[in-house]
Amino acid sequence: MTHNDGDRKTTREAAGDTGLLGPSGGHPRVIVRRMTARDEDEFLELVRVSADLHHPWISLPATREEFRAYLGRYDDPQSAEGLLVCVRQTGAIAGNININSIIRGRFQCGSLGYAAFAPTAGQGYMSDGLGLVLRYAFEELRLHRLEANIQPGNHASRRLVERHGFRYEGYSPEMLFIDGAWRDHERWAITSTMMGIVPPSPHPTLPAR
Ligand SMILES: CC(C)(COP(=O)(O)OP(=O)(O)OC[C@H]1O[C@@H](n2cnc3c(N)ncnc32)[C@H](O)[C@@H]1OP(=O)(O)O)[C@@H](O)C(=O)NCCC(=O)NCCS
Repeated sequence: MTHNDGDRKTTREAAGDTGLLGPSGGHPRVIVRRMTARDEDEFLELVRVSADLHHPWISLPATREEFRAYLGRYDDPQSAEGLLVCVRQTGAIAGNININSIIRGRFQCGSLGYAAFAPTAGQGYMSDGLGLVLRYAFEELRLHRLEANIQPGNHASRRLVERHGFRYEGYSPEMLFIDGAWRDHERWAITSTMMGIVPPSPHPTLPAR
């Protein structure tokens, strides 16, 4: 995979591994990689069998047309990254974690969206995958901040971000349109500073002062 984020290009395919962090940051259980058109059949089947898990928290593409439009949102990795968490041993897709709405300059921020798939949910794969995504976002993309907006009552999602040290920042009424209505959300976020990650050089769009 070639990643071009302004002033540098990183070739990862040479590592002989589809993971984002070279051999996936050496993680024993999961690989995180970009979603591709080849994932369509498996993704749609997983969405189908995960309907009960996802409702009412998230709505993922359920038809081929919806999947292709969704994939198109991640054509430009400068503005959003569509990532899959896969079980290392089998290659099966365990879930997805997207870094949406990437804003550079003084913000260097992305907004996370994620879901597990029912066959492998509750086994720690999403937690493992999120750990890799955080490293990728802060070390490779050189973002400073990742946000997760979570509906009150979504305890599994809240546990996931709490486990990784996200900080509760506040409560926004009517924040996102989900399942047919504007839903209140808790705003959770983590910064590279909180994880002690300092990239070798700042992102080129970060002002000097
Ligand atoms: C939120 C969501 C992604 C969490 O996925 P998940 O599969 O439960 O997350 P994990 O893979 O990290 O699994 C967590 C469980 O695995 C267990 N676990 C952790 N490490 C483990 C390991 N190494 N081996 C086995 N189990 C493990 C933990 O006990 C944990 O259970 P707990 O939270 O009850 O303590 C999932 O519930 C989901 O898709 N929800 C619907 C969509 C959604 O809400 N998206 C977010 C919108 S804000």
